[in-house]
Amino acid sequence: MSLFRLDHVTKQYFTEGRPVSALTDVSLDAARGEFVALVGRSGCGKSTLLNLAGAMDFPTSGTVTLDGVETSSLNDAALTRLRRDKVGFIFQSFQLLPALSVIENVELPLMLAGRADARPLSKDALRWVEMEDYASRRPFQLSGGQMQRVAIARALVHSPSLLLADEPTGNLDTTTSDLILGLLRRVARETSTTILMATHSDEAAAMADTIVHLRDGRIA
Ligand SMILES: Nc1ncnc2c1ncn2[C@@H]1O[C@H](COP(=O)(O)OP(=O)(O)O)[C@@H](O)[C@H]1O
Ligand SMILES: [Mg+2]
Repeated sequence: MSLFRLDHVTKQYFTEGRPVSALTDVSLDAARGEFVALVGRSGCGKSTLLNLAGAMDFPTSGTVTLDGVETSSLNDAALTRLRRDKVGFIFQSFQLLPALSVIENVELPLMLAGRADARPLSKDALRWVEMEDYASRRPFQLSGGQMQRVAIARALVHSPSLLLADEPTGNLDTTTSDLILGLLRRVARETSTTILMATHSDEAAAMADTIVHLRDGRIA
């Protein structure tokens, strides 16, 4: 069974009353533990597709199914729960909170979910990305690659089934990018997390199991 699946998905945004087609008739699915790279130029619809796959937004037409659940069938509370339990997100700009320490950043999603085991799980997650020695540092005291490793720990701390990565190496040099991509490769293999990664780099995409090309909102 697919971990996520898009069936004939179309997404239009309305700006000043005019429709903009971000995705047109996109069908795509991924298995548990599969690492999928979504490649295409800026504006081709990559972030839109990630947001739909992660139940952050709804398609204009077509359906999105995440872990066997069709997202449009859920009410707001169920949708929030689905996202919180099943999805992790990492970004080009890391998006760590500057006022919090490394371990507090990683703990935050668990604290917000009211979990009592936030500290031990966060330590495990930091150990997994080999950042346990930096637990009490603040984000500004880290390199870009280290910040992305912390962001990966935060995204995985609740053991999501889907990790969405939106241009995760866009702000990193080649050597650091390779390290982060190698880590994502390991995440998919060793934890069976499905990864959907948006990138405009063919080199980054080469690390994935499956490469999907998007052009002007359509699968090429
Ligand atoms: N919230 C929005 N409102 C209006 N248009 C949007 C919005 N988000 C994205 N778009 C448009 O949809 C298209 C796809 O954008 P996006 O998914 O961000 O592409 P990518 O991530 O590949 O750069 C672009 O034309 C973009 O301008
Ligand atoms: Mg984008």
